[in-house]
Amino acid sequence: MEFSVKSGSPEKQRSACVVVGVFEPRRLSPVAEQLDKISDGYLSSLLRRGDLEGKPGQMLLLHQVPGVLSERVLLVGCGKERELDERQYKQIINKTITTLNETGSMEAVCFLTELHVKGRDTYWKVRQAVETTKAGLYSFDQFKTNKAEPRRPLRKLVFNVPTRRELTIGERAITHGLAVAKGVRICRDVANMPPNVCNPAYLASQARRLADAYDNISTKVIGEQEMAELGMNSYLAVARGSENEAMMAIIEYKGNGDAKPIVLVGKGLTFDSGGISIKPAEGMDEMKYDMGGAASVLGTMHALAQLQLPINVIGVLAGCENMPGGNAYRPGDILTTMSGQTVEVLNTDAEGRLVLCDALTYVDRYDPETVIDVATLTGACIIALGHHTSGLLANHNPLAHELLNASEQAGDRAWRLPLFDEYQEQLESPFADMTNLGGRPAGTITAAAFLSRFTKKYNWAHLDIAGTAWKSGKDKGSTGRPVPLLTQFLLNRAGVADVEDKE
Ligand code: BES
Ligand code: MN
Ligand code: ZN
Repeated sequence: MEFSVKSGSPEKQRSACVVVGVFEPRRLSPVAEQLDKISDGYLSSLLRRGDLEGKPGQMLLLHQVPGVLSERVLLVGCGKERELDERQYKQIINKTITTLNETGSMEAVCFLTELHVKGRDTYWKVRQAVETTKAGLYSFDQFKTNKAEPRRPLRKLVFNVPTRRELTIGERAITHGLAVAKGVRICRDVANMPPNVCNPAYLASQARRLADAYDNISTKVIGEQEMAELGMNSYLAVARGSENEAMMAIIEYKGNGDAKPIVLVGKGLTFDSGGISIKPAEGMDEMKYDMGGAASVLGTMHALAQLQLPINVIGVLAGCENMPGGNAYRPGDILTTMSGQTVEVLNTDAEGRLVLCDALTYVDRYDPETVIDVATLTGACIIALGHHTSGLLANHNPLAHELLNASEQAGDRAWRLPLFDEYQEQLESPFADMTNLGGRPAGTITAAAFLSRFTKKYNWAHLDIAGTAWKSGKDKGSTGRPVPLLTQFLLNRAGVADVEDKE
């Protein structure tokens, strides 16, 4: 799929299809009006007859419109002009892409990027259109014998911008959008991969592939023997019930000499059965997505490599499998973490924090500027924020604000929860320094409170993506989140994100 920008008028396009908006009730957008004029009122007469109301997502495909050089005109309902918001814009783009892909237009010139979206500029509209298009065309069908491929798929999409001055802005938006889309696709592919294929060794092999492809990336993989030497007993305890060896992959990207790195740590439980505290059978297949954090770190590293940003970043994929078995760790066990702090295990299903705490201790050796961990950590986060918003907790206010800003810019939302000291009391153990279980109240916060005991040496933020990493039901599959958020954060840190183009 190819994207480009141009600045021209709709009647002059020679394409398989021109895409223009119609507002509710039955009002042509300024661009559609130009087509109406050249066709002697053809479009307005259709609207008068009631063929299209203009409700959001309504589509009307026209052929051989008089006076128009393109073969087709796709009229797209955009709702009430003044109510067009971000969410509706993305839905409209998505619907448009599906329609184009299914109706034989292999290329199109899209004027929807000229619509006025509240508070958003051309850069945003073009970039979101690229990301939405790519995401909408994604499917995970490599295990399907018969793949449902459209006969004449959309191959080329041109976005129109209102002025020539905005062409460079549009091109940059495409570059950034494509990098984010690639990161999202890679995240979705590894996350959707079944757990009999995607085990910790598979995750590590994906990390090595990145180093093979880019000169300024190197990857190192730490297996169980080295973990034992490092004293990562908490991480290893979780892995003990599984036949699949735990592996932690460390992907190092160098874009800025000896500057302190930003470190991203992803929870990579390639399957979380719960272990001895086993989960109920229903929906357990979805625990293959418990490596969604690691998948998003991998995807973000791909986006970063494609953008070649001038920063140093280290991505850690903390791969592990949580299984019951004769050698599995048990409730009651007391573990000595790499940091020296001891943990009494009260529930083997609270394994994510046990893996992450050692990974977070390990990364201290890189003298990090910032550490962000990403994890499908708690079911409680779904209760708190549902499936639209990731949980954010941090020990450093400016970092939390940076991440909230990035999430807002990228349309990949997160919301902060507090980390007040009082919550630490829920982790008290009669026998060890802490337990791995905080009880029912504020499960997302107590999980983060646990992690905060291992991140005192640096600025740290934690993203709980339990509700946002994948979808269940008929659209089951990885969402690729929070790759857009993380990539935006890196773009901002690199100082190359769009700044001039404010409306
Ligand atoms: N991976 C799960 C969290 C999870 C559950 C994410 C469902 C998405 C959907 C995590 O390892 C887990 O099992 N957490 C437990 C913690 C509890 C035992 C303190 C949970 O949330 O129930
Ligand atoms: Mn678990
Ligand atoms: Zn888990």
